[in-house]
Amino acid sequence: MATVSEAPETSQELSEVLEDLRRHLLWQEEDGGRVLQVDARLAAELRGAGLPRPQALARPPAAKAAPPAQPVPAPQPAQAPRAPAPEPERPMAARPAMPRAAPSPEMLLEVPPQSRPIAGALPGVVEGERPTLDQIRRELGDCRRCKLCTGRKNIVFGSGNPRAELVFVGEGPGADEDVQGVPFVGAAGQLLTKMIEAMGYNRDLVYICNVVKCRPPGNRNPEPDEVTACEPFLRAQLRAVQPKAIVALGKFAAQTLLRDTTPITRLRGQWREYEGIKLMPTFHPAYLLRQPAEKKKAWEDLQQVMKFFGKQPGQRG
Ligand code: URA
Repeated sequence: MATVSEAPETSQELSEVLEDLRRHLLWQEEDGGRVLQVDARLAAELRGAGLPRPQALARPPAAKAAPPAQPVPAPQPAQAPRAPAPEPERPMAARPAMPRAAPSPEMLLEVPPQSRPIAGALPGVVEGERPTLDQIRRELGDCRRCKLCTGRKNIVFGSGNPRAELVFVGEGPGADEDVQGVPFVGAAGQLLTKMIEAMGYNRDLVYICNVVKCRPPGNRNPEPDEVTACEPFLRAQLRAVQPKAIVALGKFAAQTLLRDTTPITRLRGQWREYEGIKLMPTFHPAYLLRQPAEKKKAWEDLQQVMKFFGKQPGQRG
């Protein structure tokens, strides 16, 4: 590893070297699913250079990605689950020397999902402070943090009122959302829009986002590493909006936010709390399209949310 004193001569160069080191560490992976974290000394150096805390370096094992400037390969046809395209090799010549030795045991830390960093892990999003959605979107950038980036057309960040009292969280974009870059605009989205309007709101009054911001190929379920990579952004979005209530649409939203593996059939209809915010799990609109008889239960769940806001059916605003 190049020491700080060997290579850079100016603080600009030092920043560049540390930034490159940070990127390198981001993509370091452990076969056993362990997350590599830098030791305290290096963390202090990174912090001293205005770079993110070591927790920000934690990445799931499968989240192999190219640097931000890499072009995204052309999307594959819809509905065709496939292996992600191989990642292009990063040119080595332009990079400073990287650590080659195996990390010491102290540098390797088993990080259970429960204690993984959340919003505070985002560089530029300061723990304890209310970020703006723009800040979070900028931080997300042209995201390459998981393999979903290889097949997406657009990142689907979220839409609606940045100060909404009510937020709906879905699972991940489908084909229509991927094309338009807007959440819930396809068939399930049309049903969600009706549900929102039946509650006396409209899409501009609430905020809508998803657990994962890129379309899983063939509309498959998001995989754990993809959820882990995207979750800090969802949590940061909720910290930015600071709603009074959240409706978690389906198992992925409910289980991710609550860190609870209870099936959605048992979670739904029961108020829970997410970081001091009321959270109502209910069925996902795509499920309701397949099982229309379950709409009654979902409507009961939404009525509980309306009651919380003191709203009557048919009441607007
Ligand atoms: N399903 C989701 O979970 N989210 C969308 O944005 C669209 C469909």
